[in-house]
Amino acid sequence: MPTRVRQPAPVFPATLEAVPAEMRVEYYHAWARYLIDGRVRTWDGPCQEVCSPVCVGPAGEARPLPLGHYPLMTAAESEAALAAAQRAYDRGCGAWPTMAVADRIRHVEAFIPRMAAVRDEVVRLLMWEIGKTLPDARKEFDRTVEYIRDTVQALKELDRAGARFAVEQGFVAQIRRSPLGVVLCMGPYNYPLNETFTTLIPALIMGNTVIFKPPKHGVLLHAPLLEAFAESFPPGVVNTVYGDGATVVGPLMSGGGIDVLAFIGSARVAALLKHQHPRPNRLRCVLGLEAKNPAVILPDADLDLAVKECVLGALSYNGQRCTALKVLFVHRSIAAAFVERLAAAVGDLLVGMPWEEGVQITPLPEEGKCAWLTKLVAEATGGGARIANPGGGHVDQSLFYPTVLYPTTPAMEVNRVEQFGPVVPVVPYDDERAVLDWIVQSPVGQQAALFGRDPRRLAALIDPLVNQVCRVNLNSQCQRGPDTFPFTGRKDSAEGTLSVSDALRVFSIRSVFACKATPENEAIVSEIVRGRLSRFVSTDFVF
Ligand code: G3H
Repeated sequence: MPTRVRQPAPVFPATLEAVPAEMRVEYYHAWARYLIDGRVRTWDGPCQEVCSPVCVGPAGEARPLPLGHYPLMTAAESEAALAAAQRAYDRGCGAWPTMAVADRIRHVEAFIPRMAAVRDEVVRLLMWEIGKTLPDARKEFDRTVEYIRDTVQALKELDRAGARFAVEQGFVAQIRRSPLGVVLCMGPYNYPLNETFTTLIPALIMGNTVIFKPPKHGVLLHAPLLEAFAESFPPGVVNTVYGDGATVVGPLMSGGGIDVLAFIGSARVAALLKHQHPRPNRLRCVLGLEAKNPAVILPDADLDLAVKECVLGALSYNGQRCTALKVLFVHRSIAAAFVERLAAAVGDLLVGMPWEEGVQITPLPEEGKCAWLTKLVAEATGGGARIANPGGGHVDQSLFYPTVLYPTTPAMEVNRVEQFGPVVPVVPYDDERAVLDWIVQSPVGQQAALFGRDPRRLAALIDPLVNQVCRVNLNSQCQRGPDTFPFTGRKDSAEGTLSVSDALRVFSIRSVFACKATPENEAIVSEIVRGRLSRFVSTDFVF
């Protein structure tokens, strides 16, 4: 039974039988499989056991439920994955990178129903592996399928534009986008499916070959998709590696065989991976890194709206979103009223198991996370902040009850790190210039949210802010969607831009076929086009 944040109570199921049958998972030995060179293989080497953040057992004795295990591969398997990907790419001469766009689209389209067929299994694993609520897990899955469909449409449009010849200054040319090589895709644990696929699918459809390594949490949910990949794509086009990053990713990077690194995670790991590559000028990077998105609540803000959006922005999926609101700057004149309403709204949230109706606060998958958040809270309260909501700071195994901290200062540790969890620090301010100053000094710059009504006062903030972050939201929380909008960041927050159409660009490069517009050249080009002798020099239209 779920409980309210304000009334901490045991919420973990006493037995597995207490979980609704359709939401249960069984320990499944066949998870230890991997895909290399078009074959799904069973791993019989050492494995890593995966335990759920959801604990099972009587109150006080509940323990993380073991879910299954995944291969702890060695450098030999990751080299085999790389070799398969390189063979399939064949330095740009392979069947996949030279395939007509319409045919590559057919492969991706064939993948969609196969992926849809394992929706329930993947959704269940999203709940058990990373504690995502049922509606959010379904949303992550469906949004990903939608993203794939939109990517196909976007590529059709891009390709139609490339189907025309350009005639300039005596030249006839055709300009299209070509693949870059072998792409290493590594997604984060908070969106293990969606954020992996928002790089993997565009990379594939543009003609690259891919190795993907699931994040530390959210590994098992990829297993039901291995057959779908194997059946939909030629051998070597999609390969998986599992295990300790230093063991399996290190050799991939340091050998120089990776052409594009698509990584969503910490700036520290991204820098480490980049520096391992021996030819940094050749390596292209698409990175989604840290963020500390602030909300600024102006004195004339609609407080009910601001509270509603800040609760959503700071606490959806327990605050484990890169776009989450991680610090709230509130004008001192309204700070007490705002905090009172915020604390009441947070106290009202339901804490429970991911499949329980209406639940917003669920167990955290990262080991040691509750202890670290407790330390952040203690440091803030030791410095003069108080826990503003009843139930705040309560810990039950992997559950951390959301905690509104007020008043905090920018110097406190909680405001200097990305907490990536259910702790909501509120900083009172007197002058917007001080807030702007904090944002300017910040080492990251993804998004910001402004709450207010006065157009002049808002405009005075919007103009400097768009040069500090990459999206300024008015009277709403920060977020990535719609997925057609550019998603990126400044400073240590990102490299490259992702959106349905931008992703196609970051995983490809423009290549030009050009000739002087002489009668002889025109005759050759006409013959190539009429005879459909080339897939690049072609006016074929993808419907
Ligand atoms: O964790 C970062 C995600 O890309 C955020 O996406 O704003 O849709 O939750 P979201």
